Amino acid sequence: MWPLGALFALALVTPSIADTPANCTFEDIAGTWNFYEGLPVGDETISCPDHNAFDKKFSVLLEYPDTAQDMFGNLGTWTIIYNQGFEVRIMGRVYFAFSDYSTSASGEVTSLCHQTRVGWTHDVTGHNWACFRGHKTGVTAAPSKHMMVREASDKVMHKNSREIIKYINGGDFGWKAAFYPEHERFTRKEMQRRSGGHLSRVYGLTSRGDRYTTVSEQLEMDRLPREWDWRNVDGVNYVSPVRNQGACGSCYAFASMGALEARVRILTNNTRRSVFSPQDIVSCSEFSQGCSGGFPYLIAGKYGMDYGVVVEACNPYMGKDTENCTTDETCRRVYTYHYKYVGDHDTIITPIITIITATTIPGFFGGCSELGMMRTLVKKGPLPVGFEVYPDFQSYKGGIYRHVTETRQFGFDPLELTNHAVLLVGYGVENGKKYWIVKNSWGEGWGEKGFFRIERGNDMCGFESMAVDFDVSPY
Ligand SMILES: *[C@@H]1O[C@H](CO)[C@@H](O)[C@H](O)[C@H]1NC(C)=O
Ligand SMILES: *[C@@H]1O[C@H](CO)[C@@H](O)[C@H](O)[C@H]1NC(C)=O
Ligand SMILES: *[C@@H]1O[C@H](CO)[C@@H](O)[C@H](O)[C@H]1NC(C)=O
Repeated sequence: MWPLGALFALALVTPSIADTPANCTFEDIAGTWNFYEGLPVGDETISCPDHNAFDKKFSVLLEYPDTAQDMFGNLGTWTIIYNQGFEVRIMGRVYFAFSDYSTSASGEVTSLCHQTRVGWTHDVTGHNWACFRGHKTGVTAAPSKHMMVREASDKVMHKNSREIIKYINGGDFGWKAAFYPEHERFTRKEMQRRSGGHLSRVYGLTSRGDRYTTVSEQLEMDRLPREWDWRNVDGVNYVSPVRNQGACGSCYAFASMGALEARVRILTNNTRRSVFSPQDIVSCSEFSQGCSGGFPYLIAGKYGMDYGVVVEACNPYMGKDTENCTTDETCRRVYTYHYKYVGDHDTIITPIITIITATTIPGFFGGCSELGMMRTLVKKGPLPVGFEVYPDFQSYKGGIYRHVTETRQFGFDPLELTNHAVLLVGYGVENGKKYWIVKNSWGEGWGEKGFFRIERGNDMCGFESMAVDFDVSPY
């Protein structure tokens, strides 16, 4: 549908590696915005970060929980994307931009949440691309918000904490820890990147957990299978092999490609077993920050829809940033569509309507729940999920993980907390304890053959806060 060569010509002149350290919350974004838009005459090769001509003004009101309304009264939807930016769908168009920020000479970052960097807009069908900038009305001064994350040292090698391992294995926490010698081949910065990277940290995630208020939700919960595992559905495994992201902060790319791989297998009765290229994401996506991190909503979702993904052979994994896009431009691209956060509206609507609309309303960041994730997992397939990584997680060997808060007593610096993207593949119950089954990208030697289980129903480490759903065309 779109000329591919041009995409790579663009990638050649616009390196994809740029920090987005902005930290903007729902409250920062909600309100009335003016969007200044260029002429909608482009295609996906448009280079928005360099764009500076904006002809048309468009106003939109963004309200709780996900309602957008334009100046003519037309309704649409919107969501924040983590703490990085937001996306609005209205009048047949999609608008996405990262929130703006400034960096002082000393390197201190201030989030400028009342304005955006230059973003991308096109019809929901992918036509008529343009660039736009957003300014929130009624906000004149930048709120003074500073990023307080710390990037770990790239001079000091990572050391497994024998104290934490001993503490966990000596206690009754429901899981066991192991000493992974291979982790000591990474620097502290590389280990931080493997866990999501230092810019990925966020606060104030909200999940509905396992509190279900309506009769219909309880009925649906009871009707869902008690256990589910996409590695074994009537003896068939739909989950592609575990991979290893190495020293690069590309978990979001592995989680996203793993989700596409599983869903293509599910859609084709396991006959099409493609493995997709995380390096294409690292090297070519302007919606993420290469080895410094990114978010599945913008990759499995937006990049998959706007640019498509390629199979591994078109850009084999190197695990490092590249100056230019390195993907073979003759490769066929595979596209996603209907991407959204898994989410439920608060049930102000009647139970009957909830049953009918529950899976058709778009989700939004902040509306996630255990039930929404279970429903989407069983119906659609594995989904990429983010959660907070504490150092005790890195030593996980088996069992049902829960964060053992006492790790703080072992000198853990909470400023080094990161957000890691992984792939949800199933759920179950063991001795009355509910858990999720999750695929990691730290190799098969880690955890339970590369997978882990984590407590379910209590939003452990934010696990039930930011799952992403999408559809894919298997070709
Ligand atoms: C991001 O903003 C929130 C809310 O303003 C704040 O609580 C949090 O500390 C900030 N995060 C970082 C990493 O600075
Ligand atoms: C799906 O694959 C299985 C195993 O190869 C086969 O037995 C089954 O008939 C297939 N189903 C369809 C609808 O083709
Ligand atoms: C990246 O692209 C630029 C512009 O085409 C070129 O000058 C440069 O040599 C390329 N770098 C690499 C490592 O290929």
